[in-house]
Amino acid sequence: MTDGLAKVNTALKAALDSSHDAAWTMPSAFYTDPDFTRLEVEHLFKKEWHCVGRIEEIAEKGQWMPYRLANEPLVITHGTDGKIRALSNVCRHRGTLIATEKGKGRRLLCPYHHWAYDMTGQLKAAPKIEERDGFTVKGCKLPEFRCETWMGFIYVNLEQDAAPFAPSVAELEAKIAPYHMEEMWLGYILEETWETNWKSMIDNYMEGYHLSPLHKTGLANLNPTDMCEHLTPGEHWFGYSVGFPEDLPRVTSGHPDCTKEQSNTCIMAMVQAGSGIGLGADYSSFLCLQPEGPDKVRYKAGVLFWGEWPQSAVDRAIELFQQTMEEDRSVLEPMMLGYASDHHAPGPLAPAPLEGNILDLARYVGRRLGPALDATA
Ligand code: FES
Ligand SMILES: [Fe+2]
Repeated sequence: MTDGLAKVNTALKAALDSSHDAAWTMPSAFYTDPDFTRLEVEHLFKKEWHCVGRIEEIAEKGQWMPYRLANEPLVITHGTDGKIRALSNVCRHRGTLIATEKGKGRRLLCPYHHWAYDMTGQLKAAPKIEERDGFTVKGCKLPEFRCETWMGFIYVNLEQDAAPFAPSVAELEAKIAPYHMEEMWLGYILEETWETNWKSMIDNYMEGYHLSPLHKTGLANLNPTDMCEHLTPGEHWFGYSVGFPEDLPRVTSGHPDCTKEQSNTCIMAMVQAGSGIGLGADYSSFLCLQPEGPDKVRYKAGVLFWGEWPQSAVDRAIELFQQTMEEDRSVLEPMMLGYASDHHAPGPLAPAPLEGNILDLARYVGRRLGPALDATA
């Protein structure tokens, strides 16, 4: 085992044994070691369920969108049968990518030699290539991966025999069902790459300690640090809640199924490895990310709205989201320089309501990667 992996392994075992009150931050190798990132890709990103976006992105039959999960180029299609599928986006001819952007049509057409596939991945045409032994158009299909929809999101798993997604988030679903996130509409979507580690981004999304200091002129007015509560984590998710100040003007109290307390509480949750939701009854955000090495993360994020909103209020919510993301970026990218320092050392975490989810993420990773790390010894 390399020195970096040994440090990570020791820290993950300590995290699994630690209480929230006694928890420490992880060593820098957890965020910077390339061997560890490779293990994460193999054991988390290629094996767990991942959010690849919202159903609204491909709301109509015949629409598709590309997405890359780990090293697998995918195209998510909305079939004429109404079914959403996750197909390999790799042409069965010479392997170039078929869809490079969102689109709509009857066929997915490979740009190279115009092989054409339908929305189920079935090859329909291979111009000028005769059928022969070992090849028929009918017998040629794009590989299809496991795909489920949940709360308006599309989840994909590259592992064919993975356990179904929905039961893994049943406890979380019971908690958030009254908000009816599946009825919210997508008002803003963003795809970007940041120069930071994917877990730093999740740590940040999932802790309320920084809300009042870092976001003091913006988000902290809605969700101040002092109103954070830690939620008891599940096996496949963890989260915290944060209240809205009582005198805060809100456009709507959300779905009528929400109690007053639910309307006044935002739930932040990470679902499996890289999908975060920030759920408010009036509007919500989401984040789905993929590592591109230890110090780079590609992500999709968006803002969802419940019910009718005046355009000016939508614009303000989107501006606040953008401001929040920029403020987060301003600390998460320089953090990689901090982790590269010979003098970085772990420090104590704030109490569970504020930074409990940082330990929860380390434990989640420890449960998934412990055996693989031990096997490198
Ligand atoms: S590579 Fe797709 S048609 Fe040739
Ligand atoms: Fe933030």
